[in-house]
Amino acid sequence: MQASPAAAAPSPAVASSPAPSLSFKPIKRTADDYIFGKLIGDGCYSTVFLAKDIHSGKEYAIKVCEKNLIIRRKKREYIKREKDALNMLFNVPHGFVKLYCTFQDVDRLYFVLSYAKNGELLTHINRVGSFKLNVAKHYAAELLVALEKMHAKGIIHRDLKPENILLDENMHLRIADFGTAKLMDPEAIRTTTKNIENDTQNERSRKISFVGTPQYVSPELLHDCVDTRASDLWAFGCIVYQMISGLPPFRAATEFLTFQKVLKMDYEFPEGFPADAKDLVEKILVLDHTQRLGSDDKGDMYGSIRNHPFFDGIDWDNLCEQTPPTIC
Ligand code: ADE
Repeated sequence: MQASPAAAAPSPAVASSPAPSLSFKPIKRTADDYIFGKLIGDGCYSTVFLAKDIHSGKEYAIKVCEKNLIIRRKKREYIKREKDALNMLFNVPHGFVKLYCTFQDVDRLYFVLSYAKNGELLTHINRVGSFKLNVAKHYAAELLVALEKMHAKGIIHRDLKPENILLDENMHLRIADFGTAKLMDPEAIRTTTKNIENDTQNERSRKISFVGTPQYVSPELLHDCVDTRASDLWAFGCIVYQMISGLPPFRAATEFLTFQKVLKMDYEFPEGFPADAKDLVEKILVLDHTQRLGSDDKGDMYGSIRNHPFFDGIDWDNLCEQTPPTIC
């Protein structure tokens, strides 16, 4: 049986049931259906554990959210967005962690996610110092394709960074952590830059007190609080820079100083940064989001970015079937 997005249990739990009748209901999971193992991630209201399904033996990453922290820290909206975004992406074959099911008990909410065995992209960048050009090119291409699919569904991530980009068992990229995502009309996302005037009170205060990740936050999110897919392209530019140089372009001792550097576009390329990569990053890290490479692209592809000379030699059609180049 095909697992359905975040409603039923992972498929094996009902595999031996008779042919589904109209009254067929999937069995609801509980924490007792899993053996919880090591901690693999945490955030301000959640913890992620590696867990084994006792029925199938399959491994999952289970995100456990404490209800009292969600309420105290006013993160209810984040939970809903994460679930909605992951449900929308469930049938997209590559590029995203999958949400198989959710359940709750008195104190906690549980998200059963696909386990990305090879962890965070950040760990790999830090382990090797910086990526060889062919490796950076490959992962930049995988990331761009994932952004195309996500934006085509009307989802802006708004907190893309190497910690939120995971690598699966085949070293393919999977974007995670959609708690701060914005869900928009898929048609409108290409043209709309929605600003704070149209927002609910809740949304306004979230934006005004925006504490995403300073190194990757776009100037328009800091300045004008506009929602545009180009903010994800800005983060994409920062990540390409980081894969090649080892560090993000905007960094300073405090968050405030980092924000100032972003707003002043105060960054430099280290010596030896390849010319094509420099040109691509310069065309993406542009203050005016409407002038950013890709922001004007029509259709579901970022053709202007795909066609940049940095990506020469990339086989776009087979990217996710290829074995990625080794990170060393
Ligand atoms: N950390 C957070 N989510 C994860 C996932 N799905 N797989 C591996 N590590 C994670």
